Amino acid sequence: MELGSGEWLEANRVQWDERVPLHVASEFYDQSKLRAGRGELYPIEERELAGLLAGGLDGKRVLHLQCHFGADTLVLAQRGADVVGIDFSTPAIRAARALASEVGLAERARFVIANIYDARHVLPQPGSFDVVYTTWGTVGWLPDLTEWARIIEWYLKPGGSLYFADGHPSALVFDESGGELPTFAYPYDSEGVPVVVDADRDYAVEDARLEHTRTFEWSHSLGAIVGSLLDAGLRLEFLHEHYEVPWKMFAPLEVGGDRMYRWPREKWLPLALSLAAVKPLG
Ligand SMILES: C[S@@+](CC[C@H](N)C(=O)[O-])C[C@H]1O[C@@H](n2cnc3c(N)ncnc32)[C@H](O)[C@@H]1O
Repeated sequence: MELGSGEWLEANRVQWDERVPLHVASEFYDQSKLRAGRGELYPIEERELAGLLAGGLDGKRVLHLQCHFGADTLVLAQRGADVVGIDFSTPAIRAARALASEVGLAERARFVIANIYDARHVLPQPGSFDVVYTTWGTVGWLPDLTEWARIIEWYLKPGGSLYFADGHPSALVFDESGGELPTFAYPYDSEGVPVVVDADRDYAVEDARLEHTRTFEWSHSLGAIVGSLLDAGLRLEFLHEHYEVPWKMFAPLEVGGDRMYRWPREKWLPLALSLAAVKPLG
């Protein structure tokens, strides 16, 4: 699989380009707190970043991979970090730059257009970030986690950390769009072979119908995610499974006042996964 070009990259990019204006205008990506100067991440990241970074984000250099239109990137900048956001969607990066100017953070937040696999050519700054941050809906768009992990390791300073949160791989095997009960729809690990999806729905805007429906996606097992980071030389700091997730992954989930969706009674399946991995000092 070519990582720097190909049908997969183009198909995914045009769909993400189409989603950007929908998301910028959506309630799901409500930016009112960010615009008021007090943006928030989801509770999982808030809690775990506070534990991971004893001194907080102030003065930290943060690289945000797959930053979309920069909403979370700018929350990190509001906490005092110097941030660089990377995404392959030109409309996403344009929207991110516009939002950064609007909220007065253009000095502290830089945005770069790049396929993750080409990032090192476009942003040649090895060993220069305290934190690499990537959350919610990222690795499923990436064919090769070995290379992903190497890129993260390359960007981190010795002692710096990756922070990662996403849907739990074992929950992501299910789909329930076909009926009332979830069915097994996706492999637990697609082992580098893309799952070709043809769907016109968007997770953030229920009544949207996308014109560009075909995407190439990948399932990565828990072992593959963690193994790629360990093989790249990072040390696992923590790994947590969560019974909450920031989108309505399954119909019975109930949303709380903190925007997180949870099982009403039994904890049937973990819904999300988060981890931190550190680049050793010497
Ligand atoms: C679900 S979004 C991540 C959203 C982010 N957590 C947020 O809430 O702002 C996935 C992002 O990955 C980007 N993306 C997908 N494949 C990519 C690739 N190969 N290189 C760079 N960005 C990519 C998309 O453009 C999109 O902005």
